[in-house]
Amino acid sequence: MRKKIIAGNWKMNNTVSEAVKLVSSLTKKIEKNPPSSTGVIICPPATALASVAPLLKGTPIEMGAQNIFWEEGGAYTGEVSAKMVKNAGAKYTLVAHSERRTYFKESPTVINKKIKLALANKLKVIHCIGETLEEREQKLTKDIVLNQVEWDLKDLTPQDLKNVIIAYEPVWAIGTGKVATPEQAQEVHGFIREILDAIFEPGTGKKMTLLYGGSMKPDNAAGLLAQPDIDGGLIGGACLKADDFMKLIKASEAASK
Ligand code: 13P
Repeated sequence: MRKKIIAGNWKMNNTVSEAVKLVSSLTKKIEKNPPSSTGVIICPPATALASVAPLLKGTPIEMGAQNIFWEEGGAYTGEVSAKMVKNAGAKYTLVAHSERRTYFKESPTVINKKIKLALANKLKVIHCIGETLEEREQKLTKDIVLNQVEWDLKDLTPQDLKNVIIAYEPVWAIGTGKVATPEQAQEVHGFIREILDAIFEPGTGKKMTLLYGGSMKPDNAAGLLAQPDIDGGLIGGACLKADDFMKLIKASEAASK
């Protein structure tokens, strides 16, 4: 059975001291209510990784980076490598978040390179996909996610895929308060499992963890997490408050029963 996961993407929020404060508050809450069937991941900004890592020792919370560069290292001013975030304590990295596709024009080739480099550095990958509002209105959702899965994950082996989580994040639902209905999200998640079987080998779809992201909040999480093909959430806004993030972890625990 696939384990549920609640992951928090902090985006460009929190200084080091703010990060330490938020994590300290979260670890206290988690100690009181340790989840039994939910994995918890937080993705602070790169500047806070090394300060957050020691606070997570002995807790069930794992840490991810939000981005890595696509080359191992060298003359790439301003970039952060897979090895650097790994050494700072990250076990995961997000790749291909829609904000990176939009603002930094990340192409399937770049995304594929990043995913392979992360895996080569023993970082697990949370690979984000999803359609824009315009694409949904043109009934292109399935074409878009099919293309993203096919090209972003090109040439990955079954062994590689064990270390990849896919997060379906419809762009129109990110930061807008417009959450996908449980039925809309379930339909796409079910479709992703089908295409994973078709692109890779039969049985791949049911093995992989698929998260939903986009305005997931304590008051709408239960319906989404109850869907058979939704294994958890990738949370933006609601992960910046320890109370709300804890409520989402509790919702996931309740949905796992
Ligand atoms: P919101 O939860 O703020 O909509 O963000 C979702 C997201 O982009 C997580 O990666």
